[in-house]
Amino acid sequence: MLLAPKAQAHISEERMPVQANPLIKTLALSPRRRRRLAPPARRPTASVRCSAAARSYSITLLPGDGIGPEVVAVAKDVLSLAGALEGVEFRFQEKLMGGAALDAYGVPLPAETLAAAQASDAVLLGAIGGYKWDNNEKHLKPETGLLQIRSGLGVFANLRPAAVLPQLVDASTLKKEVAEGVDIMVVRELTGGIYFGQPRGFGTNDKGEDIGFNTEVYSVSEIDRIARVAFEVARKRKGKLCSVDKANVLEASMLWRKRVTSLASEFPDIELSHMYVDNAAMQLIRNPKQFDTIVTNNIFGDILSDEASMLTGSIGMLPSASVGESGPGLFEPIHGSAPDIAGQDKANPLATILSAAMLLRYGLGEENAAKRVEAAVTETLNNGFRTGDIYSPGTTLVGCKRMGEEVLKTVESQSAVAVNSS
Ligand code: IPM
Ligand code: MG
Repeated sequence: MLLAPKAQAHISEERMPVQANPLIKTLALSPRRRRRLAPPARRPTASVRCSAAARSYSITLLPGDGIGPEVVAVAKDVLSLAGALEGVEFRFQEKLMGGAALDAYGVPLPAETLAAAQASDAVLLGAIGGYKWDNNEKHLKPETGLLQIRSGLGVFANLRPAAVLPQLVDASTLKKEVAEGVDIMVVRELTGGIYFGQPRGFGTNDKGEDIGFNTEVYSVSEIDRIARVAFEVARKRKGKLCSVDKANVLEASMLWRKRVTSLASEFPDIELSHMYVDNAAMQLIRNPKQFDTIVTNNIFGDILSDEASMLTGSIGMLPSASVGESGPGLFEPIHGSAPDIAGQDKANPLATILSAAMLLRYGLGEENAAKRVEAAVTETLNNGFRTGDIYSPGTTLVGCKRMGEEVLKTVESQSAVAVNSS
């Protein structure tokens, strides 16, 4: 599916005492697309809360390297509890990828891991990479495993929300008046462009000098499908879409701009603009509130989403969802494996917890459980708990595990409210 519909949201929404976290905007799709991209019919329509599991999903966990295992362990517990409270049960299977898989199997994405991921309902990934494998040849780099799984799952649309939460506005390096209220969604093309383009490689030029080369290439169908996702995302947000390219220099960007422009007639309600990537990088810092939804290619999206994350104060807060036309989605925090703090219980698990919320919403259509998770994160921040990356004086500094426990407590206390009010 491309994005699971807000399946059962209406059934028990009125009984939900929780508020959606502004970090994630609800993305419900147009009925047309929903029909085309609806998840398999086996998804039941009844919502049963606080009772025997009515719906069961298989989730592949890919903890990966560095802080990955720490943050995934925490997110798994939050996912389980929020699911249980909504009558959803998960069957988890954990598989190796990245450096961990290189050490165990000699490849960054074992066939078994990909097969398990493809056969599951959704995939939750921690992070991959580390100093140990930095100098490996390309096919033996942990990052290669990440690109292989994105490609293997066909998840071409990567949604990276970056919203400045009121509780964390002081964590931003920008002036409060610039950062306050920022709420951007970067829609990054994820399985094409220069990351995958052929030819690529190393060679020698006519002077006998060593060269490295890559190809930035996009086909019409690749541009159209990501653009359509972005228009629909924008439609569920503030209706503004900015397409970022380098059409003053690159042919692939010229085609990109032409296609995005021509698709705009299908979405007359969306205000479309175009921006060169260098200007976009500048505008994101100068006046980030001008952006609502951004659509861009793989490499510009990689760079701009890291930049956008810093508007919010910490990359440790930002989740992502990667989805394709069919099959399971891949959900991962946008941060890396942070080997410098790995194993020290210092990581911020909130980006992975929020990725689990995206998994619930976009991967499974479990809107109520997603809201529970997002509301629990908001409340935990309201309660003053902070990991080192978002700490400010007057708040309570906690580690990864404790942050997870606090989120779990909040999920639980919401259930008490829910039960009492229903
Ligand atoms: C990301 C990461 C990856 C990317 C790396 C680890 C391959 O930076 O998800 O943004 O470039 O896509
Ligand atoms: Mg990146």
